[in-house]
Amino acid sequence: MISPFLSALKGQNHTAHIPIWLMRQAGRYIPEYHALKKGQDLYTVFHDAHSIVAITELPLKKFSLDAAILFSDILMVLDSLSQEYTYQDQIGPLVAPIKPIVKKPAATAYPFLVEAIGTLKKTLKVPLIGFAGGPFTVACYLIEGKNGRDFKQTKKMLYQDPVRFSSIIDAITEATIDYLDLQVRAGVDSIQIFDSWAGILDYPAFQCYCLAPLSTICARFPSIVFCRGSSLFANELASLKPAAISLDWCGDLKTIRRQLPHVPLQGNLDPMLLFASKETIAKAVDSILDTMGRDPGYIFNLGHGILPDTPFENVRFLVDYVQDRSTHIRKIQ
Ligand code: CP3
Repeated sequence: MISPFLSALKGQNHTAHIPIWLMRQAGRYIPEYHALKKGQDLYTVFHDAHSIVAITELPLKKFSLDAAILFSDILMVLDSLSQEYTYQDQIGPLVAPIKPIVKKPAATAYPFLVEAIGTLKKTLKVPLIGFAGGPFTVACYLIEGKNGRDFKQTKKMLYQDPVRFSSIIDAITEATIDYLDLQVRAGVDSIQIFDSWAGILDYPAFQCYCLAPLSTICARFPSIVFCRGSSLFANELASLKPAAISLDWCGDLKTIRRQLPHVPLQGNLDPMLLFASKETIAKAVDSILDTMGRDPGYIFNLGHGILPDTPFENVRFLVDYVQDRSTHIRKIQ
């Protein structure tokens, strides 16, 4: 069977419906997720092949999504740079102060990922998306140590000590390429880069610390690129020749499609809409599909990750509605 997701990435989706998957689809809004974690801390779960497989498959068992995304985290790349981190319940990642960077080959750092991807490729009926963080966003966590609003320490270092900051970005970029190479060799069908916090940079810093490393990565592995601010920076991201641009919710798909007629686009429903009524969700989807419903290079997704307390039934409604409605639109063309 032709995959609507992979065909859309080629700009050739002439299948019956618009493909849909959701950033952070394997997560806390699914009641069984908590049971699968069995009270273990997240670090342990991300390093265990059985848990990775079970949690990656979970949303696919619940909804008819068109792609799976590996259950992992953008901080995992720190393993191959010998940096330590943990996850705290309700808070998120905590990264220890930067230690001297000692590089480890991905093959020795991530045997459990190779095993998990191998198993998933046998069990999944849809393509598997591998991923990594954008070097700038990973640097934010490494320097800041935790989730932040304005990533003040990171921006301070960037302006006060650009040589040191660049060397951190370079080390992460190199490790990311090795890490993605491992995922591709193990069998992932596509790659997304989450450079979530690139939107906090001014334009020159965005070019230097987001675009430049992403261009090195995309030259090696054409990837779907996402950042907060991707609507604003869509032209710049298109210059990377990415597999697709994953748009945040701020931009108008119609305008962006007009500017970039040939780049596959993904997005961009505000995840907060999933807290609204089904009627409101349907209206928002209709307005997106009015423009994109017949587009051969379009993948439905959210403008950022799904939120932990999202009503489960609304997610089911969204997935079914996008597929049914786009099938209907495509029938009457
Ligand atoms: O999309 C998926 O379902 C695949 C898995 C995935 C996770 N993290 C699992 C996870 C992906 C693609 C990520 C990416 C990620 N991780 C990003 C970029 C995307 C984005 O949302 O901006 C970032 C910035 C991180 C770093 C990170 N990991 C944070 C800030 C947190 C805590 C915040 C939060 O959402 O709780 C995590 C923990 C994390 N990574 C969870 C999951 C499912 C929470 C799990 C739990 O608490 O049980």
